[in-house]
Amino acid sequence: MYLSDLVTALEGSATAEIFAEAKKLEKLGKKVYHLEIGQPDFLPPQPVLDAICEATKTGKTTYTPSRGVIELREEISSYLLDTTGATVDPEKEIIAITGAKHGLFSSMFSVLNPGDEVLLPNPCWVSYEAIVKSVRAKPIFIDLESPHFDLDANLIHEHVSTNTKVIVINSPNNPTGTIYSQKQLHETLKLAKDLGIYVMSDEIYSEYVFDDPWTSLLSFPEWREVGIVVHGFSKTFSMTGLRLAWVAANSRIIDQINKVIQFTTSCPPSISQWGGIVALKNIELAREQIARTMPDRISAVLEILGDLQGIQLAPIEGAMYAFLRIGDGNVDDVDLAKQLLAKEGIAITPGSAFGPAGKGHLRISLGVRLEELKVALRKLRNFLSSM
Ligand SMILES: Cc1ncc(COP(=O)(O)O)c(C=O)c1O
Repeated sequence: MYLSDLVTALEGSATAEIFAEAKKLEKLGKKVYHLEIGQPDFLPPQPVLDAICEATKTGKTTYTPSRGVIELREEISSYLLDTTGATVDPEKEIIAITGAKHGLFSSMFSVLNPGDEVLLPNPCWVSYEAIVKSVRAKPIFIDLESPHFDLDANLIHEHVSTNTKVIVINSPNNPTGTIYSQKQLHETLKLAKDLGIYVMSDEIYSEYVFDDPWTSLLSFPEWREVGIVVHGFSKTFSMTGLRLAWVAANSRIIDQINKVIQFTTSCPPSISQWGGIVALKNIELAREQIARTMPDRISAVLEILGDLQGIQLAPIEGAMYAFLRIGDGNVDDVDLAKQLLAKEGIAITPGSAFGPAGKGHLRISLGVRLEELKVALRKLRNFLSSM
C-alpha cells in the first residue's frame, strides 16, 4: 500500500541508530560508555516529582486548556521576566506545549507555506532539517566554520532569497557549544525585521551557560514582531520524558499554534504541567545541580583531550556537549563512530548527523557521571592518538 513520499525520504536519526546498536551490545553483556545522548544524568528536583505524584493522586489527569493551565503560563511568564527582562503576556503570548520538538514543529507549521525557505546555520541540531522538510518547506544550510562557528548578519544575508521566511538560531548551541553574543543576536533580529522574516530561537540550553554571558532573543523589543522563542523543561530540569515546553511569540502566531495543538495533541500532559509549575518555582535547585556537575565535566574534557595532537575542540561556552574536529575534518566520522563503539564500547554521535558542516567531527555528550566520563575520554584519547 501507499506511503508518504515525504516521510519515506526522511532519514532516521544517527543518534538513535548508534543508541540502538549500543543497546544491542549491552544486551550481549558488553560495557558501553554512553557519550551519545543529550539527556542529563540527574533526576528532576524532588519537589517536581512530588508535585507530579500529587497531581496524579488528586485526579489532575484530564485535558487542560490547549495552551496549558494558566498557572503554568504565569509561572513561565515570570521566569521570562527574571531571565530576559521581557514582559510576555501569559494569556496571549505563551503556549505550553508537548516538548520543544513539537514546539518547533507546530511553530514552523503555523508560519510556513510549501516551498518557503528556512535558513539553518550548520552544524545544527538533527531535528531542524527534518521538521522543515515535514512542513514541506526547504532547508538552506549556512555552513559555519570550526572551531568557533561564528554567525553574522552578512553571512545570513548571503543566503537570503525571496523565498526565505525563517532563520533558526540555537544559542547555547547543540552540537557546537557556541553562545551568540548580544550584538550577533541583535543584528540577526534587526536584519530579519528589515527582510520581513521570522527568527526562531531555540533557547532550550539557556541554563547551561558557563563563562560567557547569554542573551535571549526576548531581550530585544523586536521579538514581538519577528521572534518565535522555543524553550522547555527537558534539559534544565532533566524532564525529558515528561514532554513539556513552551513557545513565546506574538498573539497572532500563538493563536495559529493553538489551532495546530487543538487538532493534534489537545494539550501537554496535565501532570507534567503541575510538575512544571513547581519546577520553575524551584529553578535554584536545577541551577545548583547544573553548577555541581557540568564545570567539572568540561574541565575533564579539556584536561584529557585539550592537548591531543590532530584534534580541535570547539570552545564549550554553553549547552552540554563537546564538539571536536578530527584531523583536517575530512575523516569519515560515521565510520569512526562505528569503530569506537565496536572496539572501545564508546557510543558517540558522528558530526555529520548535524548536517554537512559537521562532517569530520564527533560530539560528546556531557550528561554522564564524571568518573564514567573520564574513563571514556581516556579510552577515546588512546584510540584517536593511535589513528
Ligand atoms: C537544540 C535542541 N532543541 C530541542 C530539543 C528537544 O527538546 P524536547 O525534549 O523539549 O523536545 C533538543 C534535544 O536534544 C535539543 O538539543
